[in-house]
Amino acid sequence: MSSAIPCPDEFSAVPAELAAFRPKVALVLGSGLGGFAEACDRLFAVPYAKIPGLPESGVPGHEGEFVGAELGGVRILLAKGRVHYYEGHTPREVAAQVRLMASLGPEVLVLTNAAGTLNPHFAPGGWMMLNDHLNLTAASPLSGGPNFFDMSEVYDARLRDLFRGLAGESGLALHEGVYACVPGPQYETPAEVRMLRMLGADAVGMSTVFEAIQARALGLRVAAFSCLTNWAAGVTGQPLSHQEVMETGRSAAAALSVLLGKAMAKMS
Ligand code: HPA
Repeated sequence: MSSAIPCPDEFSAVPAELAAFRPKVALVLGSGLGGFAEACDRLFAVPYAKIPGLPESGVPGHEGEFVGAELGGVRILLAKGRVHYYEGHTPREVAAQVRLMASLGPEVLVLTNAAGTLNPHFAPGGWMMLNDHLNLTAASPLSGGPNFFDMSEVYDARLRDLFRGLAGESGLALHEGVYACVPGPQYETPAEVRMLRMLGADAVGMSTVFEAIQARALGLRVAAFSCLTNWAAGVTGQPLSHQEVMETGRSAAAALSVLLGKAMAKMS
């Protein structure tokens, strides 16, 4: 891990249970997806507020706690809720959670988010595994130094093979595509959505990309999944609502829980 970017002393006061936990997998749960934690055996929980240096989210539906858990015989650290760039946090603050989790030594980071779909073949309610992203925020958690980090394969090809295979076996329709990260907080205009389609995006959201960049820079293998909660603006003519995003996320969470559970067993 010679390319790792160190984060010395950033979190000097991590509660003991968390500091001593050695997860194999770290998992960030996005909007409405916190219910995944119920599928796991819960060992302990630490609210973000108890960790000096970690920013707190003010978005409804984004709980803020780490949960140490076990699933399929594997130790897993869940981050229930994240902070966003649109809340006014810097990219480095957004990625702080990932640096903390990475310091506990997991091999794999799984990121989940809610996203609008702009691919006519990817209907809302389904899941898309990211195979690449477009960072349209014009910002990076690595800025501040000459961190010319290679980004040829952000989303680990071997993990994608694993998840694709398991989804096939379990009859889960798992799409694969490109996630465009926009700054938000407002949803897109129909013209912006047409632009995103021309740029090659399949889904659009406001998270994940800073975390993925940070995790790769720290040497973690990354997998990421978008819960396709709604058609992106202009696709159907219906206005978008945060409520709809949250509800679809909650009802789609079960399918991803099954997939992640199967994947954990393969990672042990
Ligand atoms: N656009 C941006 N972010 C989102 C969307 C969307 O349509 N749905 C959920 N998060």
